[in-house]
Amino acid sequence: MASPLAEAEVVRVRASGKVNLTLRSGPRRPDGYHQLATLFQAVSMYDELDVRWAPPGQVSVSVTGEQAGLVPTGETNLAVRAARLLAQEYGAGGLGCTMELRKTIPVTGGMAGGSADAAAALLACSVLWDLDVSPDDLLELGARMGADVPFCLTGGTAMGTGRGDRLAPVLTRGTYHWALALSDGELSTPEVFGRFDELQPSGNAELEVPPEVLNALISGDAAALGRCLHNDLQEAAVSLRPQLARVLEAGLELGALGALVSGSGPTVAFLVPDERTGLDLSVGLTGEGLARVVRRVHGPVPGARLIA
Ligand code: C5P
Repeated sequence: MASPLAEAEVVRVRASGKVNLTLRSGPRRPDGYHQLATLFQAVSMYDELDVRWAPPGQVSVSVTGEQAGLVPTGETNLAVRAARLLAQEYGAGGLGCTMELRKTIPVTGGMAGGSADAAAALLACSVLWDLDVSPDDLLELGARMGADVPFCLTGGTAMGTGRGDRLAPVLTRGTYHWALALSDGELSTPEVFGRFDELQPSGNAELEVPPEVLNALISGDAAALGRCLHNDLQEAAVSLRPQLARVLEAGLELGALGALVSGSGPTVAFLVPDERTGLDLSVGLTGEGLARVVRRVHGPVPGARLIA
């Protein structure tokens, strides 16, 4: 197949990380996944992916960024898997690309960094290869890659049901400011769900997003949203990483409107009233050695988007 783009040309996509404003989980299903009722918000922390044409069947990735050493570069890399899936479904395998990934979203941090990279690769390769793939097709491929990938394609604020992959947009007003406390070390999502199963074998019986969260978002009331942030996986994450309890407490003492472990952790997300409080939190938490780094971000922002 001829390249629709000159060989040297690059397609660049930026994909955002997410926080879960609320996450309720049912018990483990026979397929190993958990039924969720969650609200995602995409935040302004981005991985960037450049893709270029390569000979048919060749798909490779190189990774740069703070935690690049933690990201596999072989066939298990989620961007590689996503490109291969797309090539197989839409190009009879006869397509290739080289990818350069610049990581900013923490690796295995509970912010869907790997899923963002898969979403970025699906979008970037569909453009590079000039494929006739609709946004719904990309969402369907994304769901096959992982539960959070569809949200990483759409971004914004959305309710996720099923495994978290069935999305409905949610009305929100205004911009929310977050301080994200990143820790050293990772927490494995399957391990956190495993601990959740031990702590709560029958899961949360109320599998719905509470109306007060939706009301807070519609009215743009950050203080009300702060009061109802909730994550069923938090207890499991804290039991695997007890120092997270102190991080959560310290951020609230420093003026956060609300705090929760993001997804399966270990990143802790603090909703703050303004950028100034975010800065205070950043200085306080790093000063006390409670975070490797604190990133100040805002949401909602779009999901995976072309930037060149
Ligand atoms: O879909 P993804 O590969 O991102 O999920 C990683 C792991 O997280 C799954 O293998 C499963 O152990 C756990 N998970 C779950 N229920 C969900 C989402 C993820 O148990 N709804």
